[in-house]
Amino acid sequence: MDVEVFLTHSNVTEDDVRDRSVVVIDVLRACSTIATALQNGARAVMPVPDMAEASKIAANLDPDVYRLGGERDAEKIEGYNLGNSPLEYSREQVEDRDVILNTTNGTKALSRARTASHLVAGCFLNAGRVVDFIREAGRDVAIICAGRQNRLSLEDTLCAGLMLERLWDGAEPDAATDSAHTAFTLFHTDRHDVGAALRRANHAQNLVDRGYSDDVDYCFQVDALPVLPYYTDNRLVLYEDLASAPLDGDGDASRDTA
Ligand code: MLT
Repeated sequence: MDVEVFLTHSNVTEDDVRDRSVVVIDVLRACSTIATALQNGARAVMPVPDMAEASKIAANLDPDVYRLGGERDAEKIEGYNLGNSPLEYSREQVEDRDVILNTTNGTKALSRARTASHLVAGCFLNAGRVVDFIREAGRDVAIICAGRQNRLSLEDTLCAGLMLERLWDGAEPDAATDSAHTAFTLFHTDRHDVGAALRRANHAQNLVDRGYSDDVDYCFQVDALPVLPYYTDNRLVLYEDLASAPLDGDGDASRDTA
């Protein structure tokens, strides 16, 4: 299985994701928010790249059945129901509702990868579930770190490294690409105290400074939410809730996802 890692999403093209299983990682905070919303009973999360698309979708929905969420500069967008703190996406807020999510980097990265064969949203909270899915799909993989303002972000790179560590059972293959090697090595070096490494991340520090330290603690929990947000029909839904089985007929993979 060929594995490529993109350390930011900005230059990813359709060719990069074609015929691959793609994981978009945005630890702080979009993908952690998406996993939490779905865990708390949201019907779907629609990731949008910008304000215009968010407004267009919202205009066609009954206000009772959706929540419009997102951030600019980490803060809730004026007029939106929710910001981008995963802790806001409680059952009371999202159960049986659709969420339209508009964030600076994470939802743009997801939109950019929407032509992939399989597209899932990943973070520390669901890292194990994502790795199980990648193995099951049996296809070549692209791990796309959302990054931050076109730059690498430490927390997304370390999360990619954790996924590689598990996918490769702790042993890097000789053929690993430079970016996969970088993510793997960074995680491998810090694996005995990933928490300390994560806490020095610029984005984590910025969120703590803004009063979001509970979000940071929450998003850095590994395997706390074993859910798989799977992209289909312009929305992310729980893989287990899909009526048909996307992996059927996909290589040797079976649909036994339990
Ligand atoms: C993003 O998409 O850039 C992030 O999720 C930003 C944040 O809210 O921390």
